[in-house]
Amino acid sequence: MERMMWVLVVVAVLCVYGGGGGVEGLGVNWGTMATHELPPDTVIQMLKDNGIPKVKLFDANESTMSALTGSGLEVMVAIPNDQLAVMTSYKRAKEWVRRNVTRYSFNGGVNIKYVAVGNEPFLSSYNGSFLNVTFPALQNIQNALNEAGVGDSVKATVPLNADVYDSPVDNPVPSAGRFRTDILQLMTEIVQFLDKNKAPFTINIYPFLSLYGNDGFPFNYAFFDGDTTPIVDTGTGIQYTNVFDANFDTLVSSLKAVGFGNMPIVVGEVGWPTDGDKNANVGNAFRFYNGLLTRLGTNKGTPLRTGYIEVYLFGLIDEDAKSIAPGSFERHWGIFSYDGQPKFPVDLSGQGQNKLLVPAKNVLYLSKKWCMFNPNAKDVSNLADKINYACTNADCTALEYGSSCNNLDANGNASYAFNMYYQVQDQDDQSCSFQGLATLTTQNISQGNCNFIIQMATTSSAFSLRPSAAAASLVTLLVLLLSALLLL
Ligand SMILES: *[C@@H]1O[C@H](CO)[C@@H](O)[C@H](O)[C@H]1NC(C)=O
Ligand SMILES: *[C@@H]1O[C@H](CO)[C@@H](O)[C@H](O)[C@H]1NC(C)=O
Ligand SMILES: *[C@@H]1O[C@H](CO)[C@@H](O)[C@H](O)[C@H]1NC(C)=O
Ligand SMILES: *[C@@H]1O[C@H](CO)[C@@H](O)[C@H](O)[C@H]1NC(C)=O
Ligand SMILES: *[C@@H]1O[C@H](CO)[C@@H](O)[C@H](O)[C@H]1NC(C)=O
Ligand SMILES: *[C@@H]1O[C@H](CO)[C@@H](O)[C@H](O)[C@H]1NC(C)=O
Repeated sequence: MERMMWVLVVVAVLCVYGGGGGVEGLGVNWGTMATHELPPDTVIQMLKDNGIPKVKLFDANESTMSALTGSGLEVMVAIPNDQLAVMTSYKRAKEWVRRNVTRYSFNGGVNIKYVAVGNEPFLSSYNGSFLNVTFPALQNIQNALNEAGVGDSVKATVPLNADVYDSPVDNPVPSAGRFRTDILQLMTEIVQFLDKNKAPFTINIYPFLSLYGNDGFPFNYAFFDGDTTPIVDTGTGIQYTNVFDANFDTLVSSLKAVGFGNMPIVVGEVGWPTDGDKNANVGNAFRFYNGLLTRLGTNKGTPLRTGYIEVYLFGLIDEDAKSIAPGSFERHWGIFSYDGQPKFPVDLSGQGQNKLLVPAKNVLYLSKKWCMFNPNAKDVSNLADKINYACTNADCTALEYGSSCNNLDANGNASYAFNMYYQVQDQDDQSCSFQGLATLTTQNISQGNCNFIIQMATTSSAFSLRPSAAAASLVTLLVLLLSALLLL
């Protein structure tokens, strides 16, 4: 009976703990375009430790999905843009749903809530490549979900970039929002289909990008602290003090203009990067998230759409292999660094308390060895070429203008580049040569804010750790056996 009491106490404590945490239903984007990834189990534990109940993926990778099995986390799986064309075949769409959704829909399986059909497929820079395939793919996937009997709980949606709508240049206010004229017909059909299936509209909103490459943009308007002259919507009289609200309400108006002003909206991505641009740093990221999360915690919504907003932060972990075509900041979106360490205080409960997130546990690193420029190098005529080679094959974005390592001297630059390459190559000795221009050191050569990292041991490189662990347990076993024999 007493034991029963304790169980009840523990359960009660767990419930209070679980229920007290977090902005209601907060999600994060878990991207995996990294040379070295944390094991899925580690990431899932990290999500749980931080009370994050929802995760959005960019595919339906089997190892991720199997790690999510039984986790209780709510999941958005995805079909990448390059697979949209294939999904215009209903047969293939049914196959996809069977292999990547219904396979996990058993008691204790994966709690899949959404299927993201493509990722920002109508981005202007894609030159219309996915215009013809996205809607048929969306229809096929939702119809396949419906046919499989899971359509009530799993909804297909298309995460879109905020460039699918705008306001006229001569009336640039949220209440005048309309879908882009070149895709108006298509957007209208998509919205009708989403509505028919009770699926939400998914939008990615990036105040950072409003600022990026647009020096005329009022800086404080990117944040939520209201420290700016309000912009008045002449159509409604509403005063806007941040671009997130204005952008979101431009979407609400665009939906209203095609007859669906009340359609549920999910923010599929929102966040702030910490490196790779003059505005991308932990100070601004802290300011942005602090404002965003405090706002979400109030469930106030935006002027045109009051109440709860479902939001997925972008992103969870830095990804050092992401394309930097949009900008060097692309590899620095994580609220955690590459190795699951929190970068700045974030209060996911929306109470505005400066709490550090719980880091990833039991992270395995390579040895404390760095590769650096060899100060005794005789012939440095090839140095620029070698740096270029290192930076083509590893992430040097922290060296760029306005970034954390931009104030290194020339030798520091070379060392940074060589070390990033050496770490990406799992500290292979051959990779720290550069024809005598580089040398190894066991001294931490980080300078100020510029961190010369030690990469994580990946599963394959960590494999070498196993024999010793196995050997250790063998020794333990032998000792136990021996003591047992002695006792006899
Ligand atoms: C799934 O992810 C693992 C690592 O997390 C990776 O090794 C594997 O290649 C991925 N599979 C596919 C099909 O992308
Ligand atoms: C999903 O299903 C398709 C088969 O229709 C398969 O090709 C793909 O590898 C599966 N997994 C992912 C990660 O999309
Ligand atoms: C889109 O067009 C531009 C200009 O013609 C070109 O530079 C770019 O590579 C194209 N992008 C894609 C994704 O096709
Ligand atoms: C989309 O379809 C239209 C009309 O059938 C065609 O003219 C256009 O070339 C197609 N676009 C792409 C990118 O396939
Ligand atoms: C270091 O590299 C960065 C990026 O390539 C460059 O902007 C900077 O001028 C370099 N510094 C020196 C001292 O060479
Ligand atoms: C190296 O030094 C930097 C800056 O002092 C520190 O942040 C980092 O954790 C150190 N790295 C290792 C592997 O000890």
